[in-house]
Amino acid sequence: MLDNYGRQITYLRLSVTDLCNLRCLYCMPAHGIEKLPHSAILTLEEIEEIVGAAVRCGIRKIRLTGGEPLVRRGIIDICRRISAIDGVEELCMTTNAVLLPRYARDLREAGVSRLNISLDTLRPERFAQISRIGTFADVQAGLAAARETGFDRIKINCVLMGGVNDDEIRDFVELTRNEKIGVRFIELMPIGECADWDRERFLPGSVVLERVPELKPWGDDGVSVLYKLEGGMGTVGLINPVSSHFCPTCNRIRVTSDGKLKPCLHSAGEINLKGLHGEELYQTMRKAIAEKPRRHHIAEDGKSASLRNMNAIGG
Ligand code: GTP
Ligand code: 5AD
Ligand code: SF4
Repeated sequence: MLDNYGRQITYLRLSVTDLCNLRCLYCMPAHGIEKLPHSAILTLEEIEEIVGAAVRCGIRKIRLTGGEPLVRRGIIDICRRISAIDGVEELCMTTNAVLLPRYARDLREAGVSRLNISLDTLRPERFAQISRIGTFADVQAGLAAARETGFDRIKINCVLMGGVNDDEIRDFVELTRNEKIGVRFIELMPIGECADWDRERFLPGSVVLERVPELKPWGDDGVSVLYKLEGGMGTVGLINPVSSHFCPTCNRIRVTSDGKLKPCLHSAGEINLKGLHGEELYQTMRKAIAEKPRRHHIAEDGKSASLRNMNAIGG
């Protein structure tokens, strides 16, 4: 369906847990994460009902996010149920890859068609610093498992952080030379944990083109503007939500693991869906989609208006 600004809303990002097996600096605090009570989390049945209502509203693509979606108990069942819903054309997942050696095959069998993998550094020591509790070898094994299982069109999401990983831009771009992979650089968004970081951590996506000037424009792909190395097999994408917000073409809504519909990532508004069923659930979703905010105001305010940390939204 169309929202009040004429945008066609077809994409639901569904967070299935706010827990994660990593503690990335920009996304989660090191300690003191409050666990939501079990009863607050959407059950498998509630998720299924919400996706059903979303499909009635015109949603065609579902992406499971977290926290880390693979730490959610019963994740394979969730995938299986969602992919079986009539009208769901694409089921995708954004993951940190750590648990893919265990789950990649089951995910494919459960109907997940595409994986995006979050990876902010290719250096093991730095990975340990950024993720606080992770090891790079686990992610490598996860990526390998995804490839071996036959997932193609894998995208790697690298959040650009000035003075942290911007010296690796060229290394990430090089990954696309000999492999059909999408590497996407994401501008760090001032939300939750990193909202008050030093300004020099926030780089515009354009630094990628300054550092690798031989990149050639290659169209766009939803939220990312694409580039390619001459003769390269993969693509390099820039996701620039801060420097050039893509709100005018936004096609998405979000639902958090505790059942709040967020019409916009960077706005405070949340509409409760938990406890709603049938026609009431459907009408509530319709209204929320129609009233989706026109745009975010990070550029003017310096930070996101969202009330949540990123782990409780899922990006
Ligand atoms: P594709 O289906 O492959 O196009 O995936 P995607 O880019 O929609 O999903 P992914 O989870 O890989 O998101 C990539 C990055 O874009 C994440 O860092 C998100 O936080 C960011 N992002 C995704 N959607 C939005 C949005 O609506 N607004 C803003 N500001 N950022 C977004
Ligand atoms: N800015 C930009 N991207 C972020 N992500 C998490 N927090 C932020 C932030 N503050 C990314 C993750 C993942 C995606 C879902 O969101 O790295 O790739
Ligand atoms: Fe869409 Fe809000 Fe993201 Fe803008 S900030 S692209 S309106 S979700």
